[in-house]
Amino acid sequence: MEKIHVKDKDFTISIKEEVILKEVDRLASELNRDLADKEPLFLGVLNGSFMFMSDLMKRITIPCQLQFMKVASYTGMGSTGKVTDLIGIDGDVKGRTVVIIEDIIDTGTTMKHLVEKLEKLGPKEILICTFLMKPGSLKVDLDVKYVAMSIPNDFILGYGLDYDGYGRNYPDIYTLVNEK
Ligand code: IMP
Ligand code: MG
Repeated sequence: MEKIHVKDKDFTISIKEEVILKEVDRLASELNRDLADKEPLFLGVLNGSFMFMSDLMKRITIPCQLQFMKVASYTGMGSTGKVTDLIGIDGDVKGRTVVIIEDIIDTGTTMKHLVEKLEKLGPKEILICTFLMKPGSLKVDLDVKYVAMSIPNDFILGYGLDYDGYGRNYPDIYTLVNEK
């Protein structure tokens, strides 16, 4: 499917599943190599990261644990700049190497909030791993160690990312077709 219609908008394919999975392979190798003796805790940010988390974890071969937490900062197509925690972390973070797994970093507000929240729980270190990054729109200072791909500042969906709750199910990534 090259073009899809979601709710009231048109989207066109921009990153195919095979390209996505190649990047996931690469990231997984880096994590397996860098964190081999650290028994990391992978912390997925719901809902957006569910597909990336799943593909990534299937390729992780080192001893590790995983959990999800849920935050919200986005309504419709614009970042609200406010982050609400919905489901907290229930594991023991103290002294651990924690790797936050995100679908996308846009303004960085969500990630900054998560890092500050996690720091209070006394981890040994916090590493950030995101599938996508929109570098042009980053508004905060963040050290993002693992990035699969950088994309322009366009609105996208698929591979976990949504438009008003729709479109998370597509295995490929689609970009919004701008209305004339
Ligand atoms: P930030 O707090 O501005 O960095 O926003 C991050 C969150 O906004 C991500 O976790 C996504 O859920 C969502 N988001 C950012 N850009 C897009 C997009 O292009 N499509 C869908 N969701 C997005
Ligand atoms: Mg998200």
